[in-house]
Amino acid sequence: MDRKKIAVVFGTRPEAIKMAPVIKELEKNNHNFETQVIVTAQHREMLDQVLKVFKIKPTYDLNVMKKNQSLSEITISVMKGLEDIFLKELPDIVLVHGDTTTSFAAALAAYYQQIPIGHVEAGLRTYDKYFPFPEEANRQLIDNLADFFFVPTELTKKNLLNENKPETNIFVTGNTAIDAIMYTKTLEVEHPLLDKMTPDKKWILLTMHRRENHGEPMRNVFKAVKRIVDEHKDLAVVMPVHLSPAVQKLVKELLGNQDRILLVKPLEVDLFHKVIARAYMVLTDSGGLQEEAPAFDIPVLVLRDKTERPEGLEAGTLKVVGTEQEMVFHSINGLLNDQKLYDKMSKAINPYGDGTASRRIVKKIHEYFSNN
Ligand code: UD1
Ligand code: UDP
Repeated sequence: MDRKKIAVVFGTRPEAIKMAPVIKELEKNNHNFETQVIVTAQHREMLDQVLKVFKIKPTYDLNVMKKNQSLSEITISVMKGLEDIFLKELPDIVLVHGDTTTSFAAALAAYYQQIPIGHVEAGLRTYDKYFPFPEEANRQLIDNLADFFFVPTELTKKNLLNENKPETNIFVTGNTAIDAIMYTKTLEVEHPLLDKMTPDKKWILLTMHRRENHGEPMRNVFKAVKRIVDEHKDLAVVMPVHLSPAVQKLVKELLGNQDRILLVKPLEVDLFHKVIARAYMVLTDSGGLQEEAPAFDIPVLVLRDKTERPEGLEAGTLKVVGTEQEMVFHSINGLLNDQKLYDKMSKAINPYGDGTASRRIVKKIHEYFSNN
């Protein structure tokens, strides 16, 4: 097999966390692969935090982030930037991850140059194109352009088979989020936040950022959180606040005045994983956290009406609670007061693999190029 050029494209924090183990694995095989890391920087600070933890130096950086830019603006900048790079570099395959606008634009740019596309974390679905928005459409569009589907679970494989994608090109690998956890577990972290999270309190880890939750849904959830903390003196919340201005504004307005609600900047992922491990429960609308928390045996209340990650529901570690104030309030109370329920949810069976997803992905890429 000739040495092949692999372009790995990503732009946001979660893509970076889940692509980092794939990059590390490709680099271990550098006699077979030249790895080009192309970041769009759809996120800037939150992306750079991940690159630092995993010690990744991008080959290209499109630096597209502008405050509050629209989805169309991101798509246009990413596509044009990638077109120039793809024409110059002529990669043998482009790898994209998940469902962000960066990933969709990258897949389309690769398709226009007729470059094979590998989709990492393929096959997730809610089948409601506005939920989550715009991620559900992004991932379906990417899967319509992709040639290789690296799916985390059997269920995600089934989704793709139902859509008539070729079984020969669907590979069940587990989720690279678990590989990333395996890596951060090896890192020592000391931080004042960890000292503050004393065991005399039950700590709720809260994150919220989804676009469909901006405005009223977030307002409702934050009111529920404020109420529950006011009522339980042994309860505290830590919330790393997403840098999205829409989120920042509401958090300051509704959660800013309570000593037992710690509002902190986005945390580096090695520290964040230690924070998950110390939490009593996770309250989130994040996709990635639904995969990570089961690996730490922490129950998750999902602040959405639907999830594309039903494996966690089946395993019993997730509960979808929506964003209505009363429902969120009572769900948190339920977990605080019902030890049986808590024990059941925290008895996690991690459905996302054993931390070898990136090895499996790179092996499949190698097999493909060896046979073609
Ligand atoms: C994006 C992804 C979403 C993913 C989330 C992970 C799309 C459409 N959305 O969310 O799927 O779950 O990232 O966090 O691709 N900002 C900064 N610095 C940063 C990051 C963001 O200042 O490091 C601010 C900017 O003003 C930016 C805004 O946050 O315009 C929103 O960023 P954006 O990438 O559009 O985030 P989301 O769509 O919320
Ligand atoms: N994360 C992090 N620091 C934080 C909050 C989250 O490193 O302060 C990590 C988390 O461990 C997970 C990912 O970011 O791997 C989730 O990102 P996010 O919730 O922004 O996006 P989503 O997963 O919903 O696409």
